[in-house]
Amino acid sequence: MTSLNATSDSVSTIDADALILGYDGDVTTHPQLPEDVRATIATAAGMLEPSAKVGSTVVLPGIDVSATRVVIVGIGDGSEGDLRIAAGAASRACGKRPSSVVVALPASDDVAASAVAEGALMGAYTFHDYKSDDALASYEGADWHIAGASDAALKRASILAAAVTGTRDLVNTPPLDMFPASVAEAAQGYAQQFPVDVEVWDVERLAQEGFGGILGVGMGSSRLPRLVRIEWNPADAKSSVALVGKGITFDTGGISLKPPKGMETMKSDMSGAAAVLHIVLAAARAELPVKVTGWLCLAENMPSATAQRPSDVIRIYGGKTVEVMNTDAEGRLVMADGLARAIEEDPDVVLDIATLTGAQGVALGSRTSGVMGDDEVRAAVVAAADSVDEAFWPMPLPEYLRESLDSKVADLRNIGDPMGGMLSAGVFLKEFVGDTPWAHLDIARPAFNESSPWGFTPSGATGASVRTMFRFLETRAGL
Ligand code: BES
Ligand code: MN
Ligand code: ZN
Repeated sequence: MTSLNATSDSVSTIDADALILGYDGDVTTHPQLPEDVRATIATAAGMLEPSAKVGSTVVLPGIDVSATRVVIVGIGDGSEGDLRIAAGAASRACGKRPSSVVVALPASDDVAASAVAEGALMGAYTFHDYKSDDALASYEGADWHIAGASDAALKRASILAAAVTGTRDLVNTPPLDMFPASVAEAAQGYAQQFPVDVEVWDVERLAQEGFGGILGVGMGSSRLPRLVRIEWNPADAKSSVALVGKGITFDTGGISLKPPKGMETMKSDMSGAAAVLHIVLAAARAELPVKVTGWLCLAENMPSATAQRPSDVIRIYGGKTVEVMNTDAEGRLVMADGLARAIEEDPDVVLDIATLTGAQGVALGSRTSGVMGDDEVRAAVVAAADSVDEAFWPMPLPEYLRESLDSKVADLRNIGDPMGGMLSAGVFLKEFVGDTPWAHLDIARPAFNESSPWGFTPSGATGASVRTMFRFLETRAGL
């Protein structure tokens, strides 16, 4: 099992597979590194021309230190954000399956020390459940020794890293094994372990109560849809937050079938729901004094003889009708049900997290998520993101776009103006949040890294939005 400890020993005398040191353009500095060792390492590292560029690494044999190797990593400007990235990149350079790593990056306070620990744990993540290599299968992670960290910093870091990596595991698991009922089961499993309550709606109950969006999208699959409610409700709650997550366990597009290329990453279409599940668990583990209710809108979007058709009209929870013009704009249909149900409980604020539109990537690229909604909530999400160094950018919901969602036969249609497709999707969702303060997070591309690993971000599922939402909840709790 991965373990996380603070160390106040001289970092050069700890037996480990790797010792991680920072480089800021001059020398590898750390208060727990003796001067003579520092000089030796600086000389050896200098021959390899290290760079201060954040995350760039050089690896040396462990001369004069107890560790087998020394990883020198550029720490950029030395800010918490850069330290988190540096720790992540360095942890990927520690060799195959290390059993013990010492991280000695120059963290000046607890917030920075937490960032270092988060980066190391997030960077060390691998997904190998489906590799038949025995060494991989039996690997249980490293003992991490973080120099100069407090217990509080390490606790926060381990909760956050568990939430991020838990989210990644759910998303990376192939859709053959990760479908609506299995996500619901995973949530129920967590409820045995942590102080959260989980309730699951099966199709019969969804039908009885009128969840036409989740049912409409899910009815083309033999693996039937679910709605999951997961709640952390502490006695000292200072406010209540509802989180609604898009949980399309695979998005083929349905009858409006996607081309093969467009489908390659669509196991990631449950990233919002996976994040919501793990954010609620993190709030519970950290005992945040805020009530958090997560809603996972789970369906598999498949084309079949029972699938919904373009031009079908469905009835969303609460009664609004939607003409489904394109079955590939399915996320907003399940999210409409989830939002309508979530606000019925009168939370102080509702946020939704979804891999909603390809247009998000066109507008903001593959690493920056969009956030829309009420000005204040949107600003609070951006502030939370800034403080944990996640990229979220505020986007508008122009009123004129509402008309493009008018239907001749129903209250709304599910596709609007394709110019600014991220925004018209947001305008659609706005119809289902009533007066509840609300923000919509579109994490379509940032949720899944199609390129090489960088910093603490692996290939595949990233866990986007988890750290931002945890920070958002902390601020709602007055922390
Ligand atoms: N799940 C996709 C959005 C998506 C695209 C996420 C690429 C991640 C990467 C969503 O369900 C979808 O298909 N949206 C359509 C909407 C369109 C039909 C209005 C899209 O973006 O093309
Ligand atoms: Mn789709
Ligand atoms: Zn989708």
